[in-house]
Amino acid sequence: MKINIITFFLLFLATVSLRANEPDSAYVFSYTCGNNNNTAGLNFAWSVDRENWHAIGPEFRFLASDFGSWGSQKKMFNPFLFQDNNGLWHCLWTLNDDIQQFAHAASTDLYNWKRQSYPEVVEAGNVANIEVAFDEQNKEYTITWMNENNGSEKIFKTTTNDFKTYSATEEATKADRLNLRETVLVDGEVQTGVINKLSWNEIDALIKWNEWSRFHEQQRADNTSLDAERFKNLKTVDAEISVLPENSKTISDMLIGIFFEDINYAADGGLYAELVQNRGFEYQLSDRKGSDMTWTAKKAWSLSDDEASFAIDTVAPIHKNNKHFAVLDIEKPGVALVNEGFNGISLKQGEKYNFSVFAKMLNGAKNNLRVALVDENGEVLTEVKTKAFSGNWKKLEAQLTATKTTAKAKLQVIPQEAGKVALDMISLFPENTFKNRKNGLRADLAQVIADMKPRFVRFPGGCVAHGDGLENIYHWNNTVGPLEARVPQRNIWNYHQTAGLGYYEYFQFCEDIDAEPVPVLAAGVPCQNSSCGGHGQQGGIPMCEMDAYVQEVLDLIEWANGDKNTKWGKIRAEAGHPEPFNLKYIGIGNEDLITDVFEERFTMIYNAVREQYPEITVIGTVGPFYTGTDYEEGWELATKLEVPMVDEHYYQPPGWFIHNQDYYDRYDRSKSKVYLGEYAAHLPGRPNNIETALSEALYLTAVERNADVVTMTTYAPLLAKEGFTQWNPDLIYFNNEEVHPTVGYYVQKLYGNNAGDSYIPSEVKLSDNSEAVRKRVAISVVKDSKTNDIIVKLVNLLPAEVAAKIDLSAFEVSDSEAVLSVLKGNPDSKTAKPDESIISVAEKFDYTLPAYSFSVIRIKNQ
Ligand code: AHR
Repeated sequence: MKINIITFFLLFLATVSLRANEPDSAYVFSYTCGNNNNTAGLNFAWSVDRENWHAIGPEFRFLASDFGSWGSQKKMFNPFLFQDNNGLWHCLWTLNDDIQQFAHAASTDLYNWKRQSYPEVVEAGNVANIEVAFDEQNKEYTITWMNENNGSEKIFKTTTNDFKTYSATEEATKADRLNLRETVLVDGEVQTGVINKLSWNEIDALIKWNEWSRFHEQQRADNTSLDAERFKNLKTVDAEISVLPENSKTISDMLIGIFFEDINYAADGGLYAELVQNRGFEYQLSDRKGSDMTWTAKKAWSLSDDEASFAIDTVAPIHKNNKHFAVLDIEKPGVALVNEGFNGISLKQGEKYNFSVFAKMLNGAKNNLRVALVDENGEVLTEVKTKAFSGNWKKLEAQLTATKTTAKAKLQVIPQEAGKVALDMISLFPENTFKNRKNGLRADLAQVIADMKPRFVRFPGGCVAHGDGLENIYHWNNTVGPLEARVPQRNIWNYHQTAGLGYYEYFQFCEDIDAEPVPVLAAGVPCQNSSCGGHGQQGGIPMCEMDAYVQEVLDLIEWANGDKNTKWGKIRAEAGHPEPFNLKYIGIGNEDLITDVFEERFTMIYNAVREQYPEITVIGTVGPFYTGTDYEEGWELATKLEVPMVDEHYYQPPGWFIHNQDYYDRYDRSKSKVYLGEYAAHLPGRPNNIETALSEALYLTAVERNADVVTMTTYAPLLAKEGFTQWNPDLIYFNNEEVHPTVGYYVQKLYGNNAGDSYIPSEVKLSDNSEAVRKRVAISVVKDSKTNDIIVKLVNLLPAEVAAKIDLSAFEVSDSEAVLSVLKGNPDSKTAKPDESIISVAEKFDYTLPAYSFSVIRIKNQ
């Protein structure tokens, strides 16, 4: 997307730095050293004499395989590198020992690589030792490879002229092979690879690329543990700050949002207030890929009597989407079916709890249920009886009032008569949900989220949106309608999702907290790291099914915005929301691998939405990193299609955020807007502490400065249940009783509560202008036109105070009161909270930024 400044810089250096004693050209040996379980990618060594080889790096990865899932794939064997007649480099490699595909990628300079493709060329066996020959006459490349299949070895070939379409594979002979691979010694190790000749400028650019990458790594590794030494002589830094309102610019007033993904038990057992775990008996071994033998339809359920047993049945369920139910064969009434909740059921004395169940008798006449909540010693805290039921599924409801506060209650369901009883969708909700919604959200957790004043909510992922394989793609329409008819699913984060917190609940939550919904739908491809049902992107949704998928995307917009007389608008109205939700944004794709497979599907969806709903802002995707192939290709595609906004993701160490504050200053304002959809500062051990939080606060001052192009941001992930995390750090931790916002949360909250809609540049003069100091002091001044308030945000990531003289005389702020919020602490503090006070400010006033702090001064502007 950007002019590649680094490439330009390297080429410039390479051009001007050719010294008189350097060769015009030399040899480059391309190979893979095979380290890290064959994920070492493409490595280079150079030589002037083809004898003595010098590794560039060493073992520096110029190209990595993107095929398949992390951990088990992403391998490269036997890369074959050649340059075509147009000067374009092509690399082909073997993906694995037993895959019928090979990989191809192209590059103009050997360090910026275009999208990869993985053509399937044989029916069985592997694709090993791939080689390419060019037939000048036919302008055609012949690709040959060795195929091992069940102990027999054959040679096959295919031809192509564009590395996109290939002729049918044919058997070849030894005569078709070039045998170009050579064996040389690199850093004392014997390596096998291919030798090409390059100009010295090109080789020098490779060397510089590696040097630049190492420098970049050093910057990334920069952290506060170096501060004691680095700043040992640093005393209070003086700062003079003055604002330049004449250069103000309009910025997005949507900058701070939240990204809710069902990761870390964020939904079931988390924000979704349901207290019964596995209410529908739909847990399956496959939810956890068979790694947990207790993860079955009976998970979280037991019987009070060890002698008794219950079965799971699937004949005549309540709904076809909810196949499993429990069957209790009661000889002597008194046996209870017991649910342990999500690590216990938390009850508060005096609060009401709403129970519901679907029940029917499979034999025996009538029955009814006693429902009890018991503490961990089995003492009954409250109980109630349901109405009677007989041979057909019947929904029964009852209310209980807790007589005691406890963290570890259990729910008991006790049939009162003998006979075979079928039970399903056994549910218990606190009456007190957020805004008292039925099937609602946990009030305390939702409130902490609402307190951030997020302007929008991205949902449902993240990886949950595109799923672990084609079968696991999140289909929004499976998550609306009656709970018993929703389609529960394996959660990509290795557990189960009931879809109880589905699209309806999500949109309602947005409305309740005055935030815009930003749903994300898969771009017709699953997660690029998928490991279920194939490798990685898996060719995407078959083209013959894409029309239906495109329609599904369009249906969401009709469901959200359509009149109640439309097909989907009617379904929304029947669920209790006759008025449209007024959806404005839709995300298509999540940090996907940008391939031809992706482009074809994304373009179909994008064009259809643009044509039918031009008022909707489509948000595209540009990969999982701030750089690299997916980022570059994603931006190119977005620019080509004029996608209004793209979603960028990067999880980086604090050093990256400190050293890249100019990242968006370089962005081309005429291209797509940016939604920074996932970011967080990551330190080793993954804490959420003052160091990570302040580096985020620091970076956000730069984002605010660029909020004419970066219009939305969300920290990720949002929620994590203590003891059930798959990802750290997160913004808000919780258990069944308490909510524990992190220091990073307070940064988001301070930004969310102090947003503006115009940015006022400021001039900062520091008494110490060294780079290390300069990069750790940041300011952002915004104005909120609704209140007319001026908001000054100041970040100090230094171990010393910054004594600032702030000159706001360009505004009329004479003798105002201001609200000052200060978040500060030692870099490793995880418990710091902002202090709030009222201070007096004048046109010119002094304010001292504490060491390691984030201060927000909100000034009433009369
Ligand atoms: O935020 C956690 C995960 O990080 C998201 O699901 C995914 O998009 C990213 O890789």
